[in-house]
Amino acid sequence: MQILIINGPNLNLLGRREPGIYGTRSFEEYLPELRAAFPDFTLEYFQSNHEGELIDKLHEVGFTYHGIVLNAGAYTHTSLALADALAAINSPVVEVHLSNVAAREEIRHKSLIGKNCIGSISGFKLDSYRLALHYFEGLRPKRV
Ligand code: DQA
Repeated sequence: MQILIINGPNLNLLGRREPGIYGTRSFEEYLPELRAAFPDFTLEYFQSNHEGELIDKLHEVGFTYHGIVLNAGAYTHTSLALADALAAINSPVVEVHLSNVAAREEIRHKSLIGKNCIGSISGFKLDSYRLALHYFEGLRPKRV
């Protein structure tokens, strides 16, 4: 299964950015562990701080990949353009957040992208990505 993990703005600073909220590890440090945990997946990773680049990437992979795990960062709460891109593509998308957005400021309670995702996982720090990948594991054809 070919899966792309997409991280949006400021997530390149994971490990250094507000560690009390987002943890002390970078995504690059975590990714090999994630790949080892899902050896049957081809796990690709893309990060951008730019809305248009995130949309271009969704267009590029969203008609062929088996799934996308998306942490859109603050664009989650603001980007109708990202929501429209998700509505346009075919690949199933799982929305993830490191922090529990429901327990934070009210502006973070609203996700514009959520209605165009399969579901959302929030609050488990980097483990949110692993939990999202289990959804795709469930979609994999099983041997009988
Ligand atoms: C975030 C939550 C967003 O509200 C915030 O803007 C982020 C990170 C998270 O992973 O917890 O940049 O998506």
